[in-house]
Amino acid sequence: MTATVRALHDSKRPMPRRMDFVFDDSIPMDWFGGDPFKSMVLTALSGTFPEGERFFVDSVRHYQQRLGPALASQVSGFIGQEAHHGREHNAFNDFMATKGLPMGKIDRFVGDGMQFLRKRLSPERQLAMTCALEHFTAILAEMALENPDFFAPMDERVKALWYWHAIEESEHKAVAFDVFQDQVGSYWIRSSQMAINSMEFAFFTGLHTYQLLKARGIQRDWRMLRRGFREFLVEPGWLRKMGKAYLSYYKPSFHPWQRDTTAAMTHWKAVYGIT
Ligand SMILES: [Fe+2]
Ligand SMILES: [Fe+2]
Repeated sequence: MTATVRALHDSKRPMPRRMDFVFDDSIPMDWFGGDPFKSMVLTALSGTFPEGERFFVDSVRHYQQRLGPALASQVSGFIGQEAHHGREHNAFNDFMATKGLPMGKIDRFVGDGMQFLRKRLSPERQLAMTCALEHFTAILAEMALENPDFFAPMDERVKALWYWHAIEESEHKAVAFDVFQDQVGSYWIRSSQMAINSMEFAFFTGLHTYQLLKARGIQRDWRMLRRGFREFLVEPGWLRKMGKAYLSYYKPSFHPWQRDTTAAMTHWKAVYGIT
């Protein structure tokens, strides 16, 4: 079954699409259903995307010349998609900065962090880090695509950005992984890097969310924080629901297409007219 799904997606090069989203002043600061906590968590994530995805691209590009033609073509599609994500999230981040949020500070912080890791980590570790974080984006995308209630409260104009990104993250979710298996193949490097990046991802997403809430003077709104944590961790528990998908990465036989998101991707492409 997985082999068939995998072969289907291996035969399709991820297609970069230029979107040119427009974010106008009528979009509220709390674009995620009027909820400051969820809006700032996802704005914090968006703040990390341009520099983070540039790192992903560089780590995969390092190996591009050594790949066979089919995988090299997949990598070209991956690079094109991530470049467009960076561009659109930059536009969104600039828009959120006009509301007084310190998006530039987050972008510079992530950029400096990525430069540090480029110097300190081996190419194998950099690629394993990309695979780990691509697994995070893949399972977040899977959650969004398969649970319409998750994104339902969003402002429609911002929702389109997140669905487009979720669709493309699903389309290319196996590319960095396949390059890693082809060129490195070490289970120890892949799994240990995931453990490290899981802690970093949780810490820095929390830190950047805190910075955004603090800039608004609402970092100690305990009722908002309790409601937000409850929604993510308990009921409906969006993060908790991702636990099994997250852990699957640690199986030695793991491959991203063991989680078949084809039907949900097809549905949301039709909704947004994405071909
Ligand atoms: Fe992306
Ligand atoms: Fe990606």
